[in-house]
Amino acid sequence: MIIKPDGVKKRIIGEILKRVEGAGLTVKSMRMLQLDRKTAGRFYAVHKERPFYQSLIEFMISGPVVVVALEGVNAITRYRNLIGATDPDKAEEGTIRRQFGESIEVNTVHGSDSAENGILETSFFFSTAELGMIPEE
Ligand code: CMP
Repeated sequence: MIIKPDGVKKRIIGEILKRVEGAGLTVKSMRMLQLDRKTAGRFYAVHKERPFYQSLIEFMISGPVVVVALEGVNAITRYRNLIGATDPDKAEEGTIRRQFGESIEVNTVHGSDSAENGILETSFFFSTAELGMIPEE
């Protein structure tokens, strides 16, 4: 998951992590960083042809983000239920995006949409050592 620049600016990093951990998900690793244009572009490369791509990149580099590697049984589904639909107006009551998101773009958090993308996106930001995956000698 990523806590996007609006979430960091609103000082709700703790609030978001409290909900994630409260839902039974485990934080395996996390880091705050300032994305540069190139890295944000690579992360969202799948959306390159979409009309909102440039604006999305500008937003994602507008301030620091917190990247978090999560683990848990059915983690993708459980996390996605917690954050709600991409568009905060369409997200269910009580979800993170519904409560804190401002628009379909400025929607407070990112989440991987499948287990496969979860692995790709986690390895985009974290080394195996950071994830505690180095086998003992
Ligand atoms: P995220 O879950 O990070 O995945 C892609 C992001 O693109 C999405 O959240 C939004 O921030 C943004 N996005 C998706 N659809 C739109 C849209 N129609 N208009 C603007 N931004 C969008």
